[in-house]
Amino acid sequence: MIILAIETSCDETSAAVLKSTRGHLELLANVVSSQIDIHKQYGGVVPEVAARMHVKNILPVVMEALATAKVKPEQIDLIAPTAGPGLSTSLIIGLETAKTLSLAWKKPLLAVNHMYSHIAANFLKGQVKFPAACLVVSGGHTEIVHLKNYWQSKKLGQTVDDAAGEAFDKVAKLLGLGYPGGPIVSKMALNGDTEKYNFPRPMMSANNFDFSFSGLKTAVLYQSKKENLKWEPTVCDFCASFEQAVIDVLTNKTIKAAKKFKVKTVMMAGGVAANRKLRETLEDKAKEAGFEFMVPEFKLCTDNAAMVAIAAYYLSQKKKVKLDNYKKAVADPNWELV
Ligand code: KG4
Ligand code: ZN
Repeated sequence: MIILAIETSCDETSAAVLKSTRGHLELLANVVSSQIDIHKQYGGVVPEVAARMHVKNILPVVMEALATAKVKPEQIDLIAPTAGPGLSTSLIIGLETAKTLSLAWKKPLLAVNHMYSHIAANFLKGQVKFPAACLVVSGGHTEIVHLKNYWQSKKLGQTVDDAAGEAFDKVAKLLGLGYPGGPIVSKMALNGDTEKYNFPRPMMSANNFDFSFSGLKTAVLYQSKKENLKWEPTVCDFCASFEQAVIDVLTNKTIKAAKKFKVKTVMMAGGVAANRKLRETLEDKAKEAGFEFMVPEFKLCTDNAAMVAIAAYYLSQKKKVKLDNYKKAVADPNWELV
């Protein structure tokens, strides 16, 4: 089976080609066209600009993915676009392109949930020992998901305000570091003191699996007003202390959930899962507590179509892939998880 996947939920235009041979998955192409350089000047993603860039890039990106994979349209068995959640103006471009190709090439379409795709990036690493608990941390979401198997999942908790990635982006902005915040904050944190500022660990000991990051962001803001942010070592200390607070909360709650629900595997997914220190900390804590640990390779953490293709492969094992699916696929923030 050959799957062409398309991802345009935010500011990356991406297309991937995945081949499955009796359950063995081989990624033939994963083209990602990032708009970061364009949105940087505005300090964040501007939805209308993102949509226009998707319109410009989508067909060249799809064609490049097919050329890299050396796959012709007639060899494709399934077309898999992201349906949501995401920016609706961005989602529409990838989804409508996929629907049009589905109709023109007479190939079935399977629309995929973006959060399930992030989680599914782990499935390329090999068989998962279920049940599993997955920490999903991106620019728009922070949640812990319990997976009974590849197709049955339940959300155990989520952020009540900002997402973890959003907190990284906002803190970077208030420290004058630019966009996106995660990579730059974690880089500066390498030269900073994690204990210089004792920032709050919101909801860390609350008896649930929810998160909150807006208070932490405000604490960084108030402290930053008292300091000289022109002095680089101070900015590094801010980054290190903030990053440590986020990591403490995320990892403690994930391990707590893993223990409570007696899972076998702890996983992580989403753009913030590209954070090296978070990966190392969660891996250490998971292994120490006796769990298996999985995390996707770096380039499959931030938005990309390879993860959509992997998700579509697993979904296609359970769901009927019909030729006329293109008729009912719509950009939908609540598109079914599985
Ligand atoms: O999953 P993603 O690419 O897009 C969404 O679905 O939201 O995640 C993007 C988020 C951004 O907030 C970005 O700052 C964050 O992931 N991020 C990181 C790192 N790399 C990307 N956060 C912390 N550390 C990183 N190294
Ligand atoms: Zn994402």
